[in-house]
Amino acid sequence: MKKLILGSASLVLGALAVTACADGEDEASVAGNGEVNIYSSRHYDTDLALYEDFTEQTGITVNRIEADADALIERIESEGEFSPADLLITVDAGRLWRAEEAGILSAVQSDVLTERLPDHLRHPDGLWFGLSTRARVIIYNKDAGEPEGLETYADLADPAYRGDICIRSSSNIYNISLLSALIAHDGVESAEEWASGVVANFARDPQGNDTAQIESVAAGECRIAVVNSYYLARFAGGDEEQRAIFDKLGVIFPDQDGRGTHINLSGAGVTMNAPNRENAIAFLEYLTSESAQRYFADGNNEYPAVAGLEANSAVEQLGEFKADTLNAAEIGRNQAQAVQVFDRAGWN
Ligand SMILES: [Fe+2]
Repeated sequence: MKKLILGSASLVLGALAVTACADGEDEASVAGNGEVNIYSSRHYDTDLALYEDFTEQTGITVNRIEADADALIERIESEGEFSPADLLITVDAGRLWRAEEAGILSAVQSDVLTERLPDHLRHPDGLWFGLSTRARVIIYNKDAGEPEGLETYADLADPAYRGDICIRSSSNIYNISLLSALIAHDGVESAEEWASGVVANFARDPQGNDTAQIESVAAGECRIAVVNSYYLARFAGGDEEQRAIFDKLGVIFPDQDGRGTHINLSGAGVTMNAPNRENAIAFLEYLTSESAQRYFADGNNEYPAVAGLEANSAVEQLGEFKADTLNAAEIGRNQAQAVQVFDRAGWN
């Protein structure tokens, strides 16, 4: 297996392109069943185990390039019809939507994928497929007392929580996707009212990532915060120090009596000019097998996308919940509008 890091390393990428073009036919005979070129913005060791296992099962060599999602999307765009990329793997519905908008993904029809993945976790036309999910949850400082009546995202805008809320900046894609979901459900006006209400409740100007919000709530600097479940699970399943931080927190899965908690996903789509399209589809199908789902979800403490599979023990400590089944494509579609709403609401 070849690992290629993208970044300033356009030279390395060039090497992959040459390999794919010059050795195309030879590679197939060397590897047995050819290869698949994966462009991924996920960087987890468990993903490596997956690639190796796939090669063992199928004889298909996995080549991968890692970079952040936007860089990979731009790369595939600029490589155009000569792009060696077969499969783009990334996190967040917003990024999958950017890839869709850039026109670099191609529709896949697969009975295996249709059967294994619930409707809301795959693109309606098969442009991408969700592979794992994470929930955007509310946490609070237990010592400061349970925030009574805080049960929904809408409640975060309640003046009862003035000066209580910490959350990261509006440029962050997790917040953009959350607001996109609220726009899809309640309309843009209601979403703007909500955003303004939350801004009025800020304990401080948005700063830091989700992990920083968790630490701030545990330290008592903020009473309430909004964070992704996998960061919490990291603390829940971490060392003694992390565990002590987790123990200071209460977790609320919003909207359990209504539409369910907002979830987001990791997903993958086959590229428009994939030179190894069949292998890419085989790899996607492999990723929805039970053992692969286990690895894929555990790599980042996420929930498996395939129904009926349980999360790992650290994630299970957060509790069970009902997820919002809004299609992730809908979340993608509202991203631009969400950014404008955040702007108007003065959410930095
Ligand atoms: Fe993250």
